[in-house]
Amino acid sequence: MTTAYAPGRVNLIGDHTDYSGGLVLPMAIDLGTVVDLAPGGDLVELRSDAEDTPARVPIDVDDPGAVDPPWARYVAGVVAVTRPAVGGTGTVSTTLPVDAGLSSSAALEVSVALALGFEGAALELALACQQAEQRASGVPCGVMDQLASAAGVEGHALLIDCSSLTVTPVRLPGDVEIVVVHSGERRALATSAYATRRAELEAGHPARCRHVAGENERVTAFAAALTDGDLAGAGVLMAASHASLRDDFEVSTPTLDALVSRLTAVPGVYGARLTGAGFGGCVVALTAPGALHEGWVVRASAGARVLDGGMSRAGRGAGSS
Ligand code: GLA
Repeated sequence: MTTAYAPGRVNLIGDHTDYSGGLVLPMAIDLGTVVDLAPGGDLVELRSDAEDTPARVPIDVDDPGAVDPPWARYVAGVVAVTRPAVGGTGTVSTTLPVDAGLSSSAALEVSVALALGFEGAALELALACQQAEQRASGVPCGVMDQLASAAGVEGHALLIDCSSLTVTPVRLPGDVEIVVVHSGERRALATSAYATRRAELEAGHPARCRHVAGENERVTAFAAALTDGDLAGAGVLMAASHASLRDDFEVSTPTLDALVSRLTAVPGVYGARLTGAGFGGCVVALTAPGALHEGWVVRASAGARVLDGGMSRAGRGAGSS
């Protein structure tokens, strides 16, 4: 039996910048997904505590996007990209809310890949799982979610340069909390305008390009503010990021805007912004400890790893390099 774990992530700042080679600042969180797998056979069969119907994926699956039930597409994507020699039978259990924008799909992909014996460093694991996500969902996503899950560092956010794919841990100050609050709007990334936004950016749409240029500068400034302990300054940058995602990239919703305004007005909240792709999902807030009494207080955590029984030396170390 192999047991593998992969965390979800929250992005502090730098959204819709990864797929054009920009800067992002996510962190792996202390909510995640565990896969227990007994190897054998030519099917990957997994039951999930979050889903009614199990995943049954042949190891020679060739069209992950056509697999049912829908959650099994992410398992199929990993199988199609990593091509394990044998399948296995097991279970998936998760503490991540599904479809909230905390990368439950990336955590599933990364934990399944490790449970199936993936060998390679964190970056290779992330790139394989990004490809799995694209094949499963048809969404041309960037690498942020999978790389944050694979390469997380306890107590640190990750400054990722998506052109060189370098990861620089940025220590979080001790006197802050990161709070994630769900807007109540379920996000449907596959049917959202994600692909349209990406195409508009690549075609040079002025407002989309202005967002990305400004957001990259804000990521650099935010990382410096964290290092300097300038939490008020970090909060101002979060507000500017949200405004740019709302006005120039147009991925916010009235519900997300109202939630950001309400949270920002609470004493002790330095800043808040939508996090992830937008179109619903979650808001992330940077706060003084105990300022908010809602949502999840998340802690920056180590990345994905094999917890027990894995054969792969490289897989065991995937979270650390
Ligand atoms: C989703 C994608 C990421 C990234 C964010 C927006 O989470 O999977 O690659 O593009 O949206 O920053």
